Amino acid sequence: MKRTVLVVDDETNMQRVMRMILEGAGHEVMVADSAEAALPSLQNPNLDVILTDLKMPGMGGEELVRRSRRERPDVPVIIVTAHGTIASAVTSVRDGAADYLTKPFEPEQLEIAVLNAIKLRDILRENETLRAAVSQSLSGRQLVGNGPAARKLMEEIRRVAPYKTGVLISGESGTGKELVARTVHELSPRREHPWVAINCSAIPHDLMESELFGYVKGAFTGATQNRLGRLEQAQGGTLFLDEIGDLDPGLQAKLLRVIQEREYSPVGSNQVRTVDVRFIAASNRDLKDLVREGKFREDLYYRLDVYSIVVPPLRERLEDIPLLAQTFLQQLAADTGKDVKGFAPAALEVLNRHAWPGNVRELRNTVERSLLSAHGEWIDAADLPNAIAGATAHAGTDGLALEGSGDLDTWLAEVERRAIQQALAQTNGVQAHAAKKLGITERSLWHRIKKLGIQINRVVS
Ligand SMILES: Nc1ncnc2c1ncn2[C@@H]1O[C@H](COP(=O)(O)OP(=O)(O)OP(=O)(O)O)[C@@H](O)[C@H]1O
Ligand SMILES: [Mg+2]
Repeated sequence: MKRTVLVVDDETNMQRVMRMILEGAGHEVMVADSAEAALPSLQNPNLDVILTDLKMPGMGGEELVRRSRRERPDVPVIIVTAHGTIASAVTSVRDGAADYLTKPFEPEQLEIAVLNAIKLRDILRENETLRAAVSQSLSGRQLVGNGPAARKLMEEIRRVAPYKTGVLISGESGTGKELVARTVHELSPRREHPWVAINCSAIPHDLMESELFGYVKGAFTGATQNRLGRLEQAQGGTLFLDEIGDLDPGLQAKLLRVIQEREYSPVGSNQVRTVDVRFIAASNRDLKDLVREGKFREDLYYRLDVYSIVVPPLRERLEDIPLLAQTFLQQLAADTGKDVKGFAPAALEVLNRHAWPGNVRELRNTVERSLLSAHGEWIDAADLPNAIAGATAHAGTDGLALEGSGDLDTWLAEVERRAIQQALAQTNGVQAHAAKKLGITERSLWHRIKKLGIQINRVVS
């Protein structure tokens, strides 16, 4: 691959010699006869290496080293100097030059110095890419929390991560179950292998089997070719079964077989395949209840629940709110390019007082909406969405003083509003589910939402 080398020297003779050697070695050569003249080339994205003399009229090579370290830390600089200036060359190497060469030199010495510098440069660039990837992966995926509950959670994750053990994660909607599962995978020896997630409640029952196990050509109308299932895609890695409580009873039996025997057959095939997959399951309903109700196989429950992690609701770890809110703010502000620094004390106080029925997801959503309405450098209580800023204490009737709200009807309407808002937040705005939670029909819920002018927020994550 052709490399671009910038030669900086005030002697035309020297320029000519270096150009000849470097072009002979197959490089692209640019020449500048002073440090000043070299500066514009620092902006050249193709620049790979700089060779510079130290003693030149004007700015001099030492300053060029410092400038290039600042502006182009990814481009190595080689000092080319006469015997008399070796002390300054050493200083420049301390300032960040990659190497130095004394005049006169053999052509091979120059070539080798350039090749070494290019090698170094490639390593530097690779590091840069890596750092960017890491900070990106951290930006959306790191479990945040500094309170005792968060620390205990992290400890449980660390304890189980290294093994192939099944893990069952339970907790209310929006508490971070998927993130916990993902963290188990990232901290496990399987991290280099696939992470595959499948949501058992989002896929219609009759499609679930082929989604999970794949199918062979001709298995059913429309199966015009073989298709791999998620299980096969997760080979060597981790399969995350989200909302496992919604898995159809027939498939529960098939899943049990995979977990026990590590064997399965694609839809429409008798061929037995083996898999090496770690299973992590999550549910926001208590699976034990489902077992008791006869809706979930007890044997499968015990297979999945080898190790159990309960993710606590946000209202039980209010101490994490400031850090979570600040982290989300930084991530989201970076996305929108807004320069918002943090939360004003009054806003933080409101966040701390809210009950967070939608848990961390609701908090993230709140931060996102506050960011949109924020004008200054700090998010104020007035920038928070009404549903948060307007409510006091824990949703429900505690803290709702009758005296303050006038008559009984107003008070009842407020109670009704909070109950509905809470149910909607817990069900991520799905009215059918919220109605069920409230024990009313969907139609009745719809009427009440209109009457009370409640806004519905669905969070897509
Ligand atoms: N401790 C945490 N630190 C940082 N982000 C978090 C944390 N917990 C949750 N989140 C974020 O909150 C959102 C909801 O988390 P997640 O999807 O994992 O919840 P869940 O429990 O799987 O919810 P559901 O039951 O609705 O599927 C995601 O954007 C997630 O990244
Ligand atoms: Mg989830």
